[in-house]
Amino acid sequence: ARLRAVGPVVRIRFPIVGSVWITTTQELASRVLKDSENFTLRKDGAVAGLRWWMPGVIRAVADNMLTMDEPDHSRLRDIVDEAFRRRAVLDMEPHILAIAQELADQLFSEGSPADLVERYSRRLPLAVICELLGLPQEDRPRFMAWMAGFTRLTSAIGFLGLIPAMVGMRRYLGARIEIARTHGGEGLIAELVRVEKEGGRISAREMVAMVFLLLGAGSETTTHLISGSVHELTKNPALRDWLKDDWSRLNLAIEEFLRFISPVQFTKPRFVRQDMDLDGVRVRKGEKVMAMLAAANMDPDANEQPERLDLERQPNRHLAFGTGIHFCLGHQLARIEGKCALRALFERWPNLELGVPESQVRWRERPGLRAIASLPVVA
Ligand code: HEM
Repeated sequence: ARLRAVGPVVRIRFPIVGSVWITTTQELASRVLKDSENFTLRKDGAVAGLRWWMPGVIRAVADNMLTMDEPDHSRLRDIVDEAFRRRAVLDMEPHILAIAQELADQLFSEGSPADLVERYSRRLPLAVICELLGLPQEDRPRFMAWMAGFTRLTSAIGFLGLIPAMVGMRRYLGARIEIARTHGGEGLIAELVRVEKEGGRISAREMVAMVFLLLGAGSETTTHLISGSVHELTKNPALRDWLKDDWSRLNLAIEEFLRFISPVQFTKPRFVRQDMDLDGVRVRKGEKVMAMLAAANMDPDANEQPERLDLERQPNRHLAFGTGIHFCLGHQLARIEGKCALRALFERWPNLELGVPESQVRWRERPGLRAIASLPVVA
């Protein structure tokens, strides 16, 4: 709200990304994200945000659909689109609920209080995406360790600290792709290999980048949706009990959690293609614009009393999944994971509450993601 008071588009300096224009209203965020004519994710063909000092592994995994304009974006998105359609994802719901129930059962198996982030909200999305990709269950602990490193991304130094995890992951995924090439198999990696064999639609490098993107985009974001929702419900047990009385209330509630928490606070930076006027501000060719989804979701012109958590809000105009051609591929999956996570957790532990005073809940100091670092809970 403070930024919006300055104007619909404001200039800010970020670590790593540098100087960027950010949008503060929902209308402008939506307009920028839908406007591929004036904004591009690439600068002279290169991925936005990459720096000369970043090592090869980062360049390689950055070559994914989220950093591409058309037609390359659709070429890659179409390959995996089917797996994330509503029908396919709804079919997975009973299985996702079963995974959540198993994890809920084990929540306190190593003692109480338990860290919900570490023992629950991080594990569910990772388990689901690993299964979708066709990665063996026994490899999950390695993934957990690698992915935990990525959440520490706050600075250039932190960025460099990620390199060993990224190299390990790239080597591992390369090996899994090779296994799929020789033995086939189930899951999205095997599907990518089938498409590769048909020829022309995806390169070996793009395959690794795709798997990296799905793992990254598909797990951390949903983790923070789950932790954030549980956090809100432990602050307000009456709301928690109201939800438990009728689980169909989760359909509207999850939209409100998405809006209110905004796990992804900013989109990727877009480059301005030519000098233009953006709601009265002159932006120049080559400058970067980021849609601030967090501000869009708290814009009073889009939703009344946006600072209020209203689990029955309808209509709920939020941009938690972005919009335009890069609208989140996993939006159906994320919603179902969020709903299954809350249901399984509060069915198993109806009186779950915070295990520390509210003031001790720690948040990650990472621009871009709204993320609880650890959430100790007791039953
Ligand atoms: C794109 C949010 C879960 C896969 C995006 C974007 C947002 C977003 C805001 C657009 C970014 C931009 O335009 O710069 C979220 C949130 C999630 C979530 C808040 C959870 C609560 C998932 C899941 C998956 C996924 C579960 C799948 C495994 C993707 C992919 C893209 C994307 C592949 C790029 C799409 C494209 O470029 O066409 N997500 N996401 N996301 N998301 Fe999600």
